[in-house]
Amino acid sequence: MPNNRVYIFDTTLRDGEQVPGCKLNTKEKIELALQLEELGVDIIEAGFPISSPGDFESVKQIAAIVKDAQVCGLSRAVQKDIEVAAEALKLARNPRIHTGIGTSDLHIRAKFNSTREEILERAIQCVKWARNFVDNVEFYAEDAGRTDNDYLARVIEAVIKAGATTVNIPDTTGYCLPHQYGEKIAYLINNVPNIDKAIISCHCHNDLGLATANSISGVLNGARQIECTINGLGERAGNTSLEEVVMILKQHHTLGYHTNIKTELLNPISQTVADTMRMPVQANKAIVGSNAFSHSSGIHQDGFLKDALCYEIIKPEDVGAGGSKIVLTARSGRSALAHRFRKLGYEFTRNDIDKLYEQFVKIADSKKEVEDTDLLGMATQYKPEAVIA
Ligand code: KIV
Ligand code: ZN
Repeated sequence: MPNNRVYIFDTTLRDGEQVPGCKLNTKEKIELALQLEELGVDIIEAGFPISSPGDFESVKQIAAIVKDAQVCGLSRAVQKDIEVAAEALKLARNPRIHTGIGTSDLHIRAKFNSTREEILERAIQCVKWARNFVDNVEFYAEDAGRTDNDYLARVIEAVIKAGATTVNIPDTTGYCLPHQYGEKIAYLINNVPNIDKAIISCHCHNDLGLATANSISGVLNGARQIECTINGLGERAGNTSLEEVVMILKQHHTLGYHTNIKTELLNPISQTVADTMRMPVQANKAIVGSNAFSHSSGIHQDGFLKDALCYEIIKPEDVGAGGSKIVLTARSGRSALAHRFRKLGYEFTRNDIDKLYEQFVKIADSKKEVEDTDLLGMATQYKPEAVIA
C-alpha cells in the first residue's frame, strides 16, 4: 500500500520569524506553537537555538509544553550549534535536530571556501554528531535547488547512512521551475540506494512565486514532507504557504494524498499570525486573504447566486473563513442588488430593480463600495412598503 501521508513541517517560528519586523518574544512564540499543534502540524520548527539566548529559551519552553507535535531546532553543521540545539530540546517528547550545510558549488566556494569532498565529510559528521543526542535527525542540503544532482545524490546517500531520518532538499533561492524541482526529487529516489530509509522533504522559497507549485511537484515525485509557514512568511519573498499546499492536497483528493491539518482552523491561525507578527495578509492571498471568498463583478455574482460552485472551489467554512461575500461595486449586476435588498428585508419586482439599479450605479461610480446604509436610504425613499413583514 503506498504511503500517501504528507507530513507538514511548520517553520513559521523559525524561517517565518526571520522576516524583518516579525520578531516574536517567547510568550508569543509559545502561544503560536500551541495553536500550530492544535492545527495538526506534524513538526514545529521552534527556532535556531544558538542564534540568541532569547531563541534558545523559546525553543526550550516550546519543547517542554508541546505534547503531540515533534519539536525541531535548527543548527548549522557545527558541533556547538548541535549541542546547543540538543540542550534546548532536552524536555521535548519528540525532539528533532535539523542540521545541514550548503551543497551548491556556489555555496561551497563563496561561503565555505571549501571543496565538494570536504563538505561531504562535514555533512556526514554533523549528522553523526546530532545522532548522539536524538534519533530524529533531519539533514538540509542548503541551495539544493542549484546543486548538481549527482553530487546531491552522493551527499544524501552518505547522510542517510550516517543516521539522517529526513532529508531536506531546499530550493533556498526559489530558483527552480516546478518540473525541475520534481525531477530533482525523482532523481534522488532513483539514484540514492538507501533513500527508502528516510523521508524526503521540500523546503521551497518563493522568489519567483513558485514555492507552492514546487512543493506540490516535489510531493508528486515522491517527497512526503513539506516545510511551510502560515501566510507564506519567510526570508525575502517568503516560504511555501501552509494553507495553500494543504488545500491543494485536500481539494485534489483524487491524487490520494492527505495531511493531518484541521483546515477549518486555517483562517483563524492566519489572522493570529498576521496580528502577532504585525504582517497583514494581502487581500487577494489564496485561502486566507479577505477577498478569497468575495464576489464583485455582475457576471460572477449572478453565477454564484445561482450555484456557489460556479465561482468557488472551496467552501469558506472548510477553511474557517466565515462565509462568502457579495461586494456591491459599479461592476455589480441586478441580481446581486436584488439579493442584497432581500437580505436587508426588501422584496422588489424586476421593474423596481431596473429603476433602483440606475440610481445604484450612480452611487457606485462615486465610491469604491456601496454600503447597506446607502441601500436602505434608496429603499425607504423609493418604496417603503416593499419591506417584508
Ligand atoms: O532556505 C533554506 O535553505 C533554509 C535551510 C536552513 C533549511 O531555510
Ligand atoms: Zn528557508
